[in-house]
Parts: sequence; structure tokens; C-alpha cells
Amino acid sequence: MKREADLVVKNCGQLLTLRSTDRTPRRGSALADLGLVENGAVAIRKGRIVGVGSASSVESSIQPVATCREIDAGRAVVMPGFVDCHTHTCFARYRLDEYEKRVRGVPYSEIARAGGGIAKSVADVKEMDEETLLEVSEKRLKGCLDHGSTTVEIKSGYGLDLDNELKQLRVIKRLAEVSPAQVVSTFLGAHAVPGEFRDRREAYISQLIHEMIPLVVDQGLAEFVDVFSEIGVFTTREAERILRAGISAGLKGRVHADELNDTGSAEMAVRVGAVSADHLTKINTRAITRMADSNVIGVLLPGTSFGLPSLDFAPARDMVERGVAIAIATDFNPGSSPSESMPMMISIACSHMGLSAAEAIAGATYNAAFALCRAEEVGSLEVGKHADFLILDCEDYREVPYRFGTRIVGRVFIGGNEWKGDSS
Ligand code: NIG
Ligand code: FE
Repeated sequence: MKREADLVVKNCGQLLTLRSTDRTPRRGSALADLGLVENGAVAIRKGRIVGVGSASSVESSIQPVATCREIDAGRAVVMPGFVDCHTHTCFARYRLDEYEKRVRGVPYSEIARAGGGIAKSVADVKEMDEETLLEVSEKRLKGCLDHGSTTVEIKSGYGLDLDNELKQLRVIKRLAEVSPAQVVSTFLGAHAVPGEFRDRREAYISQLIHEMIPLVVDQGLAEFVDVFSEIGVFTTREAERILRAGISAGLKGRVHADELNDTGSAEMAVRVGAVSADHLTKINTRAITRMADSNVIGVLLPGTSFGLPSLDFAPARDMVERGVAIAIATDFNPGSSPSESMPMMISIACSHMGLSAAEAIAGATYNAAFALCRAEEVGSLEVGKHADFLILDCEDYREVPYRFGTRIVGRVFIGGNEWKGDSS
């Protein structure tokens, strides 16, 4: 029986379906499989995909309803919307002075010691009321959509006390309600030890475990718990305790791991059964092997190295060769990576991390959906999934990294509806 369609996208020169063969994350040589169909089409009904593949197969399997709309992609590349699986989009303001200092060679750690870094963004969030924080965060989230992200994870972590962490999480929840994008919420109360707890860090950890996590869960404000496990922040042991507490309270785990130092936190992520370990700039070979043997997704954040700026990039090539399921995200934040552009992340992943265009695109869509436990819904163009797709301003997908910093995302569709920026 033919399926009814109310929207058909035709004339897709390169249709990147990212279709799955076995519903598991892509590893090794499979990462480069984009499920590319030349001269493809996508049919949609009520925001979900009902047909996808070659123009002829789609045409013969669907029945357009009387009001069916047709879009001519004009031979362009059509692909799934980006799944940005690691962001700090809910922040009060940029930290422009720090960037000026960093490009002149002042290290991130020194800026942090002088009261900048995360502590500065915490002070900014504390002084901003909830409505204003919602307003500025919504503007930033719109920027993510403009650049083609149709699913966006957002973390708290600039509150670092009960009231302000909950304030951030409420803002994230409201963003999920008002935005057409799917927003996934992560509690990152363990982003730093707040200054007032410097000499009694155990008291803050105890508050995280016994007060904050239970309340966040009770109020249904987050799906994930995250910890910044790093020298001078939370030790691997402390991070493990916090993660285990979150996981037993019903949250799923993710970790800022092995970013500035090899602390064993990627292996810890495997041990606790986290969904992802993120950053991994300093990950060692043993930890890479452990991750490859696990279900933990390695989320790579090329913008963070680029923005610090640093020439230290995660060993992406080695991770792929050894079988880690990698994803790519922006880490959009006012410190290390003030960019919401997934195409830019793909460019950096290719130029500085040795990924191919196909690998980076699969990491930014299909595998990233696994990093958010949304693989049944988004990340590829397959029957039954959300009709979240992009029509690019190019005819060859390799232009995405190649033409870095240019406007490559032409049109953005979320649930079959076109996102037209503020006029949507
Ligand atoms: O993911 N690594 C820790 N946290 C953020 C940086 C946050 C900030 O500087 O505001 C990150 O890069
Ligand atoms: Fe981060």
C-alpha cells in the first residue's frame, strides 16, 4: 500500500541518508558510510519521514495528499540536521577580553586563576534574572538552528549553587518548549568547585550528591549528569562518585574527560557506563582501546582546541582506526568555543584531526544521535524518523569542510517545517 505524503523533497543531487544497517553507532571504516543516494527524494507526512531513497523508489511508494507541497532541491546536497550533542548554550554573556588575552599567549589556566574562565560565567549567570537569561539563551539557540543544528544538548554548570543551577535548568526546559529544535538537558553542577568551597570541596560534592541531583531528578529538569573531571577541578574519583550518584538517581552519564591532562577519566566513563566521554584531547592508547570495546561514544570538540587557541587536538584518526564510535560537537560556550557552527567543527575535524568529510559528517549526525540516546528519532533520514533535514548550498558534500567559514547550510527543516530564523 502506498504511504500518504504531505511534503516531498525532490531533485536531491546527493541525498545523504546516513541510513543504518544495524542500528548501532558507526565505527572504523563504517564511519565513512553516508548512505549516499544520487538523485534522491524524501517524502514526509506529519513531520515524519515516510519515504526516502532514489527518486523513482520514493515516487512509486508514496501517494501525495491533495495539499502536498513539493520542494525542488535543485541538485543540492540534502542531509540530516546536525545533532549538536555537547553545548553550554545557556550562558549570560561572552568573555571577549579573555580571547584577546589567550591569542596573545596567556594560558586558559592563568586566566581562570585570575577570576576569569568558568568562574566569570558563573558570576554573570548569577547576576542575570531568569527571564533575561532565557531571552539571551534563546537568541543563541536560534543561532544554532541557523547553522543547521536541529537537535541541541544544553548543559547547566554556570550556576554552581542550587538556585542558579535550577535557574539554568528551568531556562533549558523552557527553551525546549519554545524552540522547534529538540533540546536535551544535562545537569553539570560539577563544572567547577565554586570559589566559596575551595577549602571544603567535600561539602560541595556532598551537596551535589545529596541535594542537587535528587532535586533535579524530582523536578524532571535533566536527562543527563555531566562532570568536568580534570586536574584542579574534580578528581577522577570525585567525578566517579558524582556520576554514580546521578546514574543511580535515574540520570544518564557523560563526562568532560582527559581534556587538558590524561587523568584516566575516559576509562572511568567506561567503568561507570556513561553514554559519552567528551573532549579526549589527552586520551592515551589504553583508554582508546577500552572505549573501542565499550558503548561509550567519544565526543570530539574541535572548536575547543581551535578557540583556546591550541594545536592540541584529540587523536581522532587513531580513535577511528581503533574502533571508537566518535561524534563531533561544538562545545558552544563563552570560554573555549564561542561558535555554534557545526559546519565549522566539521572543517576543523578534517583539517586538524585528519577525519574525512564523510567521517566528520557521520560524527555530527548519526553517531551524535547515539551520544544523546536519540538514535531512534534523529541523526539519519530513515522512514519513521523526524523530518529534520538540511538543503545545503552545494552539490558535493565534501564542500562542507572544504569551504570553511562560509554559509553552506541553505535551508533548515525541523519536523518537516522550514526554519526561517526569527521570521519562522
Ligand atoms: O567544555 N572544559 C570545561 N568546560 C568548558 C569550558 C567552559 C568555559 O570556559 O566557560 C568546555 O570547554
Ligand atoms: Fe564542555
